[in-house]
Amino acid sequence: MKIVTGIAEVRALVRQARQEGKTVGLVPTMGFLHEGHLTLMRTARAAHGLVVASIFVNPLQFGPREDYAVYPRDLDRDASLAASAGVDVVFAPPVEEMYPQGPANVLTAVEVRDITERLCGAQRPGHFRGVATVVAKLFNIVTPDVAYFGEKDAQQVVVIKRMTAELSMDVAIATVPIVREADGLALSSRNVFLNPAERQAALVLSRSIRLARERLEAGERNAAAIRKVIKELIGSEPLAASDYISVCDPATLRELEAIEGPALVALAVRIGKTRLIDNMTWEG
Ligand code: PAJ
Repeated sequence: MKIVTGIAEVRALVRQARQEGKTVGLVPTMGFLHEGHLTLMRTARAAHGLVVASIFVNPLQFGPREDYAVYPRDLDRDASLAASAGVDVVFAPPVEEMYPQGPANVLTAVEVRDITERLCGAQRPGHFRGVATVVAKLFNIVTPDVAYFGEKDAQQVVVIKRMTAELSMDVAIATVPIVREADGLALSSRNVFLNPAERQAALVLSRSIRLARERLEAGERNAAAIRKVIKELIGSEPLAASDYISVCDPATLRELEAIEGPALVALAVRIGKTRLIDNMTWEG
């Protein structure tokens, strides 16, 4: 496996692979890899001659009071994990390579409207502009045939699919289901911030998702009733405070009243200082 930090180097490797008739899969990440990321990489490995994983903690997608400075980073560990998952090229650019004038001086952005203002976007203004911009940039650098994203970040998938469709980007978006710990907690690089009591309290997210599924399976079709039982469950956990609880249309991300077709149940919860998310899609 190669580790490259330059845009020109990764472009050269992609060009060579294409000349050899290989297709290219891209797995964008911010590193501190876990089994969720590795599942994306193995899925890409099974489908492509060249698998590129990017590791870049993108300053554009963090708000001023968010955890950019303390976001966990460990490139050596990430490189050996990526190699074990069959990645061919790790693209780990320094910030100066991606934003030579500095992130504060970037004048060009990809803005997906409306769906970015809901759920996580309501609490994190500018977050999805940063995500869409860096993902568009990674697509321009790597020119993947397929890019892989996790359903853990359900809104991110909706935004990226909309961006690629509306800008006619020549890339297919593939998704993988949420990978969880044995006790249900969705894997996240941010889980390392949790102390033992918070780690226990964080189970309120997956329990909420499970409760929503049970109610839907039992025939509940009132979205407000689902939001209410989740709110009560989160309220019963002293270390948890909900940012949002959404039962929305999976395409428009608009809140539902009656659940008559597919629905996305999504939540963001603060456990101490750590903000965690979880979701499920009800196929209807
Ligand atoms: P990051 O949080 O590192 O996640 C990289 C990819 O791994 C995303 O597609 C995310 O949905 C997926 N992922 C994370 N946890 C997962 C889990 N438990 N199960 C399945 N997939 C999981 O998402 C980002 O980085 C950034 O926004 C990025 C797209 C790289 C742009 O900077």
